[in-house]
Amino acid sequence: MFYDPEDRRIRSFVTRAGRLSGAQERAIAELGPRFCLPYAKETLDFEQAFGRQAPTVLEIGFGMGETTATIAAGMPQTNFVGVEVHTPGVGSLLKLIGEQNLHNLRLIQHDAFEVVTHMIAPESLAGVHVFFPDPWHKARHNKRRLIQSPFVALLASRIAPGGYLHCATDWQDYAEQMLAVLSAEPALQNTAQDYAPRPEYRPVTKFEKRGLRLGHGVWDLVFSKRSNA
Ligand SMILES: C[S@@+](CC[C@H](N)C(=O)[O-])C[C@H]1O[C@@H](n2cnc3c(N)ncnc32)[C@H](O)[C@@H]1O
Repeated sequence: MFYDPEDRRIRSFVTRAGRLSGAQERAIAELGPRFCLPYAKETLDFEQAFGRQAPTVLEIGFGMGETTATIAAGMPQTNFVGVEVHTPGVGSLLKLIGEQNLHNLRLIQHDAFEVVTHMIAPESLAGVHVFFPDPWHKARHNKRRLIQSPFVALLASRIAPGGYLHCATDWQDYAEQMLAVLSAEPALQNTAQDYAPRPEYRPVTKFEKRGLRLGHGVWDLVFSKRSNA
């Protein structure tokens, strides 16, 4: 379904049934109650959700969650909230949380636009990660891309002064769109001249390694929230 019958907003995802593996299903049953937070139209209290006070980073569209788990394992002092609509992805990341005994991750299975709008308090995030968002590469689908001005303005409003927005893509024209949109957002400032070197915390994925071997590019963009915004 492309449009929500209620608000007819253009979505950045298509609802897929997706087959769940037995292990993913078990992870959802066993770990879901502890690590998944229900979507609600009310502000999420990070301290309550994590049982501690710590900087909190939001990741949008974590896919199967390998990168998310690796980053969370490497930064135990930071809280991570991962948002994803796809059920097998949620199952897969819950499985990794169990295997790696991670305590600093919480998941919300819902549209990130609504999660950010309703659950994330203004200026509350230390950072936002958007890695390899769906490219929607056909011209008639470009409008579904996540990184567009209104959503970036919304994200910027949720980032604390000095916090950051980190996007990565392997589609050159999407990278160019990201650069144009992020540069035009008055609350954000580029940390690089244009594209940024890959920050060390972002692991190179298998898929990315293969692409790089084939000569494809990957572009990282890291913008920080202005303190006078
Ligand atoms: C191309 S995948 C990339 C996954 C992962 N970040 C990676 O690097 O492998 C994009 C993911 O974003 C999710 N997604 C797209 N729009 C979303 C939205 N509005 N809210 C939550 N997740 C979304 C999709 O379900 C998909 O799993």
